[in-house]
Amino acid sequence: MHYLITGGAGFIGSHLADALAGSHEITILDNLSSGTLRNIQHLLDTDRCTFVEGTFTDEDLVLSLCEGIDGIFHLGALTSVQQSVEEPRRAHEVNIGGTLNLLMASREHAVRKVVFASTAALYGNNPTFPKTETMLPEPLSPYAVSKLTGEYYCRIFSDLYGVKTACLRFFNVFGPRQDPHSDYAAVIPIFISRLLDGKPLTIFGDGKQTRDFIFVKDVVAANLRGMEGDAEGVFNIARGERTSLNELASLLVDIVGSEAGIVYEAPRAGDVRHSMADVSKARDRLGFSPSYSIREGLEETVRSFRSA
Ligand code: UD1
Repeated sequence: MHYLITGGAGFIGSHLADALAGSHEITILDNLSSGTLRNIQHLLDTDRCTFVEGTFTDEDLVLSLCEGIDGIFHLGALTSVQQSVEEPRRAHEVNIGGTLNLLMASREHAVRKVVFASTAALYGNNPTFPKTETMLPEPLSPYAVSKLTGEYYCRIFSDLYGVKTACLRFFNVFGPRQDPHSDYAAVIPIFISRLLDGKPLTIFGDGKQTRDFIFVKDVVAANLRGMEGDAEGVFNIARGERTSLNELASLLVDIVGSEAGIVYEAPRAGDVRHSMADVSKARDRLGFSPSYSIREGLEETVRSFRSA
């Protein structure tokens, strides 16, 4: 098979490229805005991986790249919620316009299936637990609106034009290659890099807030499941478990073996208190269940941060 991975030089996309490259031909389209060639350099030396530096907002480029493609993993996006608040038009053009380009090209070239990276952010602050795919979305940012719109476009391209689509709502993904230093960095890479530097961890609030963390290699497996079968629609991708920030911090202190301590600060404005997915739909319809425990995923992530 020949797959196109948008955002293939990024955090999740490069792990997916690793998983596919052994047995498939892949083309990576990435404009290197948040991804980096370091993530895929080892693949570029093989003849089964082609890298195209460019953007999926370029309609002609997308149309030409999709010729002969069997499936598209659309992981490229403006991924920062905060950046989307600052630049809503850009979020619109990249996340909605770009997705539309890929779907139109898929129709034109009869691409079998598109797997679209969506987000738990579209559940907003709805306090219902766990989050099920049938809940009314409550997007609170241009980013969430853009991903929700992408999901709707996927659905109507399936209904109207027969392009098969699966939308995966990722919860809190972590793993090797996740950037700890960007302004929009997630908590796990921040905590690991601070512990390795011997610095104390900062927890915003009482640390009893929870997240449904999932290891990046499980997210890769979910993408492969999404592509394989005929199942379409939206699917939560998570472990279906809550981990508090206090539990996360003590797990990491234990794994890294650090004595640096924990500092509590005021809660972060706009923070969601709890987040947890109902994962039964992905299990039943995609046959996806995560295989890494939080601890196993954290251990592998710490190992990779140590050797980076
Ligand atoms: C994620 C997004 C956020 C978005 C939200 C919407 C990322 C990195 N964050 O936030 O932009 O608004 O989804 O659903 O994609 N924390 C600490 N100490 C730290 C860093 C974080 O205590 O040094 C806490 C946060 O306050 C939060 C938790 O850790 O309670 C997780 O933070 P984060 O990794 O940013 O994820 P989300 O809060 O889910």
